[in-house]
Amino acid sequence: MRKPIIAGNWKMYNSLEEAKLLVAGILEKVKDVKDVQIILCPSFTALAVVSEIVKNTGIELGAQNCHYQEKGAFTGEVSPKFLLDFGCKYVIIGHSERRQYFGEDDALINRKLKAVMGFGLFPIFCIGETLDQRNQKQTFDVLKGQVLKGLEGISLSDPLKMVLAYEPVWAIGTGVTATKEQAQEVHKYLRDLLSETWGRETADRVRIQYGGSVKPENIAELMEQPDIDGALVGGASLDPESFSRIIKFKG
Ligand code: 13P
Repeated sequence: MRKPIIAGNWKMYNSLEEAKLLVAGILEKVKDVKDVQIILCPSFTALAVVSEIVKNTGIELGAQNCHYQEKGAFTGEVSPKFLLDFGCKYVIIGHSERRQYFGEDDALINRKLKAVMGFGLFPIFCIGETLDQRNQKQTFDVLKGQVLKGLEGISLSDPLKMVLAYEPVWAIGTGVTATKEQAQEVHKYLRDLLSETWGRETADRVRIQYGGSVKPENIAELMEQPDIDGALVGGASLDPESFSRIIKFKG
């Protein structure tokens, strides 16, 4: 009922030439895939070129961040409106690396979510607990705070216009994936949480991705879980072979 959605977050990797090669490699391997929504999130500098290459292929484009204002004296920032020039449909908002290294808090993330949705872009809204927080059994409280503060004042009239991404910080880039049981437990919690504010029908239609050391070897068992609808892939999305195997998780 919910279409699987697999996104590649390239982070700060790939020069223009590398980006071209990577997209070409991915396209070649996934051209027959119809039943999975595929999104590529290159860095800003590669958006224009990747956008041209994926045109009419069914692969969609996302950015990794943006500002919450349409325009202004914000040196070095990128307006959500400018992303539309590249045919971007998605924007990753609230990634833990932005929270951790760039001081993004829930209030700022809330402003960004409102801005991108106001421009008709679809946020991939990231949340996740640290290892310390998990060990201290604060996982659900932390996630609840991130979700409710992040989405404060947002009506979510169309559940397909936001993707939630659960990315436990301890699983990102570490090679340690959450077990399928750990991930499912959190995804179910998140869906129930969404239903408390936005209603069961909406919550049942929102796609919730898992992210954190997703690999070809663990994607199938994650996707078998009833509340896991896709993946936000970092490292393994930088290689056409491994990313295409993740996309073709059904075998
Ligand atoms: P890795 O897949 O490299 O663990 O990164 C996950 C991530 O942060 C995706 O946004």
